[in-house]
This record gives sequence, structure tokens and C-alpha cells, in this order.
Amino acid sequence: MLSNKNKNKNKNKKNKLDLVLAPRVLVFTLLRKIYIEKLSLSVLEPLFESQIAPHHAWVKSFVYGVLRGFFYLEKIGLSYLNKPFKKKDQDVFLILLMGLYELKERSTPNHAVLFETVNLLENIKKTWAKGVVNACLRKALAENLNINTNQFPGWLEDAVLRSIKNSYGVKNNITKNTPDLGFKDFKDLKKELEKIISESLKEPPIFLRVNLLKTSRSEYLEKLKIIGVQAKIVESSNAAIELEKTSEEGVRLTTGAIGELPGFAEGLFYVQDLSPQWMPECLSLKSDLFILDACAAPGGKALHLLEQAALKNSQLVCLDSDPKRFERLKLNFQRAQIDFSETSLISLEKNTVQLLKLDAMELNQTALPKLFDLILLDAPCSATGVIRRHPDILLLRKEEDLKTLVTNQKKLLNHLLGLLAPGGVLLYMTCSILEQENDGVVRAFFEESLENPKKFQLEALTLPVGRATPYGWQIFPGEGEGQGGDGFYYAKILRIE
Ligand SMILES: C[S@@+](CC[C@H](N)C(=O)[O-])C[C@H]1O[C@@H](n2cnc3c(N)ncnc32)[C@H](O)[C@@H]1O
Repeated sequence: MLSNKNKNKNKNKKNKLDLVLAPRVLVFTLLRKIYIEKLSLSVLEPLFESQIAPHHAWVKSFVYGVLRGFFYLEKIGLSYLNKPFKKKDQDVFLILLMGLYELKERSTPNHAVLFETVNLLENIKKTWAKGVVNACLRKALAENLNINTNQFPGWLEDAVLRSIKNSYGVKNNITKNTPDLGFKDFKDLKKELEKIISESLKEPPIFLRVNLLKTSRSEYLEKLKIIGVQAKIVESSNAAIELEKTSEEGVRLTTGAIGELPGFAEGLFYVQDLSPQWMPECLSLKSDLFILDACAAPGGKALHLLEQAALKNSQLVCLDSDPKRFERLKLNFQRAQIDFSETSLISLEKNTVQLLKLDAMELNQTALPKLFDLILLDAPCSATGVIRRHPDILLLRKEEDLKTLVTNQKKLLNHLLGLLAPGGVLLYMTCSILEQENDGVVRAFFEESLENPKKFQLEALTLPVGRATPYGWQIFPGEGEGQGGDGFYYAKILRIE
């Protein structure tokens, strides 16, 4: 019989083991749901919130690390196998990739990586794979794993390259695989591609937009200082501040902890990347405008507009078709203490904010008291500009999706330009870095009919960050002050008559 002392010792040992194993199983569970069930992190993170919370930094950095390195890990993994695992055993392949990642990128002792990785196979009851996984990991240990870690899927590299060429006005029809010979600027394009990929695979910074109607940036920095959070003003922008690293290991104050920052409940700030914060700079805002934000949830741009003092006596109408996101929009408006009404009928009333759970394609001129002076179209897109925040995009987004996205973007742009008053402006935006979703969509509108260029014209944009493209303005990831903003695109269209 065990003495009480020994029983406790064993209990402690077991708890310790649970502590070591549970987070790793959680990492595997999350990755499996992304890789095999094709679920996104934004769906999974809230579902697993309470389980992730006790080991937040460890689990998050592991999951994000594997996703960021997925394409080079996959290459190594496949090169070590005589033949790829069957479709039904992709969970085994994933466990192998987790082990390879941990060997290459983390400080876990090698023997522990081998032990823990193989243990995961027990968890999924596929112990038959222990030998092969073990052999691959040992092979990786014996080699230096010297491989280019800077990788996107091939189709995405080609699409980004096309976008770089468009952004720099390069006319040659070249792709990543075109030999350098004969294209004197091809090396620069490749360098740019490398930079975009490496920025997209980095851990992202956190920017806040301070609500200047309620406080100033320096006042807010003081509040952060009191609770020991370091931050700095982004000088080139009007309202942005960038939070600094909070620990030696480089673990950043995570978005999950943002709710604990001072003034969260009173709406003193909104978490928003630097690049979309240039939105007001694209517009000449004045009073008495009738404004539509056609794809408004969760409300970042709409709230930013409402913080613009120049817009006095204006009216803002916000739509979003996604019921869940619409609820988040309302919550964010409540937090910002915005007086709004939820309605199904738009009525003309200055100084009001009306929210409609509605598909923008269903908003017709007949339902409007008048045409809009300003329309924001922050279109649903591939989100390729925000891969550093959502690395699951690398696995989930497929080349085929682009076609559907672009068709939808073109339809929305066409439809909404029909709701714009003469003299009015539509600002088209995406968090995409792909030419097809950006200049491609705007170009299609102008080329679609002979009438469109007579009724509408492009307005040139000049922002502190990024570059003019033939139809708009492109920012690539990592560009801008501090650690730079996400990839983002703006195009401004004016209705002439
Ligand atoms: C890029 S997000 C908008 C982000 C938002 N403007 C912000 O700054 O917080 C695109 C939004 O468009 C919404 N959406 C997609 N298609 C739509 C449509 N046809 N009509 C209205 N909303 C739509 C999505 O639900 C999503 O919330």
C-alpha cells in the first residue's frame, strides 16, 4: 500500500504530466481542426478560449508557429517519407510537422520533442506510426534542416508577384519561375516578394487607434504607463499608437488581454492596425454628409468616421449581412458609447447612426431617402494582407476562392456606385495584397462599359505609406512606422454627374 506521502508524490507527478501534455494536445487539436476540418482560427479561438487561457502564450505561439512554417515543414516532412501518408492519416502527418517545427524553432530539448511527439500518436490511437515519425525526427536531428523557411504556397507567391509588378508598373509578363535572364529588374521584384513573405510570417505588432474625441495620445500613453504597458506614438499618423513588447521572450500583449487595458469599457481606443487607419486621409471630410458603410462589421472604419470632428451634422448608415458580425458591430458601438438605432428602413435624420442587418446587394435606390455623399466599401477579400495576424489563411485560402471573391467584389462595387450621389465619393478598400482583388476590380469597373468612365473618375491618393498603383494605393505588410502596418489597399472613385 502506498503511504500518503507517496500517493501525493504520484499525484503531483501525474498533475505535472497533465500540465506538460494537455497544452500540446490542445495545439494538435486546434491544428487538426484547421488542417483537416478547414476551420478558421477566428472560429476556433473563441470555442477553445477557456482551454487555451491557462497556457495562452505557449499554445498560441506553437499553433501560429506551425501555421507560419507550414510550407517549409511540409516540404521537409514529405522529403523524409518514402510515400506520403494516406488521406485518412493526415493527422499523423500533422504530428510529424509539429515535431519538426519544435525541433527547428523551439527551445524544447530534443529528447523531449521526440518523446512528446510520439506520445501524441497514442492520443489518436495510431501507434503504428511511431516508428516512421520517430525515424523522420531523428533524420531531422541528424541534418541541419537548412531550408528556406520563407515560403508561401506557389499560387500565392505568383499572385503576390503579379501584384508587385502592377504596383511598380512593371509591364513584362513574368512569373516567379521565369529565368532572370533578360529581365533586369526581376531580381528586385523577387527581393520585394521575399520581403512581403517574411513580413507576413512575422509575429504582428499591436496598434491601437486612440479616440481623439475622448482623450489624446499622450494622455492615453500615461494611462498605459501606470499599468506598466510600454507604447509609442506613431508620429506619421493622427491617432495611432503602437504597443511594445511586454516580455523578454517577445510575447506580446495579446489581443485577448486588450480588454484589460485602461479605458476599454469607455471606448478610449479601438484595436486597429496602422494601414486601415489612413482611411480619413483618403477623404476630404466635411459637414452634412449622408454616409453609407456598406460592409461595416465589426465597425472599425465606421467608428473611425464617427471620431472625425469635421463630419458634424452628418448621418451614418451601416450595413452588414453576417448576423454574428452584426452583433459584434453593435457591441463595439455600445462600447464606444455611440447612440445608434437598429432599423430595417433608412430615414433621413442628421446626427444619427442607423444599423441594418442587410446584404448590401439588396439595398436599392428606391429604399433610400436620397443618394449617398460618401460610401465606404471595405470589401470581403482574401485577407492576404493580414496573414501575419491570421496565419491559418495560408492553409485555408485556395486559388479557386479568388475567383468567387473577385466576382463578389465587382458586383458590390458596381451596385454601390449606383447609390452614389453626383459629386459623391466611394472609397473601395481591402486588406488584400493581390492585384486581382484591388486594381483588377476597379479597372474592370472602368472598362466594363463606355458609360462608366463618363460618369465616374478616379481620384488620386497620396498617403504617407505605400505606393500609387494605376488605379489606387497599395500598402504591403510591414510598411510604415515602427513594425509597420498590414497589407491594405485603397481606391477612390468620384461620381462626376
Ligand atoms: C472586411 S470586413 C469589414 C470590416 C469593417 N469595415 C471594419 O472596419 O471593421 C467585410 C465585412 O463585409 C461583410 N459582408 C460581406 N458581404 C456583404 C454584403 N453583400 N453585404 C453586406 N455586408 C457584407 C462581412 O460580413 C464582413 O463583416
